[in-house]
Formats: sequence, structure tokens, C-alpha cells
Amino acid sequence: MKNLFIAIEGTDGSGKSTQAALLAEKLQQEGHKVHLTFEPTNGHIGRLLRSILKGQISVDQKAIAALFLADRLDHILNEQDGLVKKMNEGYTVISDRYYFSSFAYHSVYMNMDWVIECNQMCREILKPDVTVFVDVPPEVCMGRIIANREVPELYETGEILKKVRNNYMEAFNVLASEEVVKIVDGNQPVEVVAGYVRDACHM
Ligand code: TYD
Repeated sequence: MKNLFIAIEGTDGSGKSTQAALLAEKLQQEGHKVHLTFEPTNGHIGRLLRSILKGQISVDQKAIAALFLADRLDHILNEQDGLVKKMNEGYTVISDRYYFSSFAYHSVYMNMDWVIECNQMCREILKPDVTVFVDVPPEVCMGRIIANREVPELYETGEILKKVRNNYMEAFNVLASEEVVKIVDGNQPVEVVAGYVRDACHM
């Protein structure tokens, strides 16, 4: 069976990282070779982005968008454990966030067309077989963030999360004919959502 590239998306506090991990576990149990990965990455550019997200460094939003693009290209292409290499080795790759995160988050500050255009090369090199969006109302996400974090990160305000969710929906619409997207109800018990995510992956 063909190995798949699966992107898991959602707003901050949606539980998508938990869902990505549960999906990886499930697919492994079913006998697939799985590589679970995430953006921002743990590489040099990803670590710089984490400092920006924590508010330790202040950088213009357009430059942040460009850094996420650079981080993504390195994620795709780097020779140690890049996504292309892992796909060629037969792994089913699950990425906790991919280019739809850029479309949703950076369009809060600039034109979505520009963000999509910038990511064209990523879309040409490696398009997900499926993008699963874990949909949770922004108010619920914000409640979880407040309960779990001492200091919220850059985009973790109720107002921004609302815009981010709307932008996700807009991006799914704009790219409906070019991308496979499954939206699952993430406002359910963890195991129930895990079942929806597994079913969305068709493999
Ligand atoms: P997140 O998955 O929430 O990481 P963690 O669980 O470690 O906090 O992602 C970190 C933030 O990065 C999140 O607010 C969304 C943002 N982000 C972008 O703004 N653009 C992007 O392209 C990506 C991948 C993430």
C-alpha cells in the first residue's frame, strides 16, 4: 500500500498535537512505518521561530511568515530526516501543522494570496494526501490555553484564534479543487476525535 503524507491542522488549543500522536500510534499498531513530525521544527529556523512565538525576540509579521516558509522548506528538503527523504523511504509521514497553518495565521496580518503564492514551491514538491482539520470553537481553545499555559504565546488571544479559524475555512474554500481536506469535530472526547481522525485518513 502507498505510504501517505498526512497533515494535521487546528488552532492553538485544538488538541491537534495529541491527535497527531494518537494517529501515529494507531497506524503503527496497524503495521505502518510511521514518521511523526511537526512545524515549527526543531531545526535552527524552527528554534528561532519558537523564541519569536514566546516573545523573546520581536520580528515583523511578514518576516515571521518568511521564516515559517524557510523552516518548511528545510523540513521538506533537509538531507537527514526531511519529509521527501522519509516519504521515499516508505514512511507514512504525519506532520503536526503544514502550509495551511501559514495560510491561516499569516493572513491575519497580510493578504492570503501572497501567503499561498509564497508556499507554491512546497505545494509542488510535497502536497499532503490529506489535511485533517481538528475543529474546536475558538472560545473552547482559548479556555484550554489559559488553563494550560503560564504565558500565552504570540497568537494565543481569543480574537486572533477566531480570525485564524475563519482563515482556515477561507483557505479550504479557495483551494477546494486542489487539496484534500477533512474537517473533523474536535469538540468531543479525545478517543472519539481520534476515531474521526483515523477514519479521515483512508488507508
Ligand atoms: P503549535 O503547534 O501550537 O506549537 P506548540 O504546541 O509547541 O505551541 O504551533 C506554534 C505556533 O506557530 C502556533 O501559534 C501557530 C504558529 N504557526 C504559524 O504562525 N505559521 C505556520 O506556518 C506554522 C506551521 C505555525
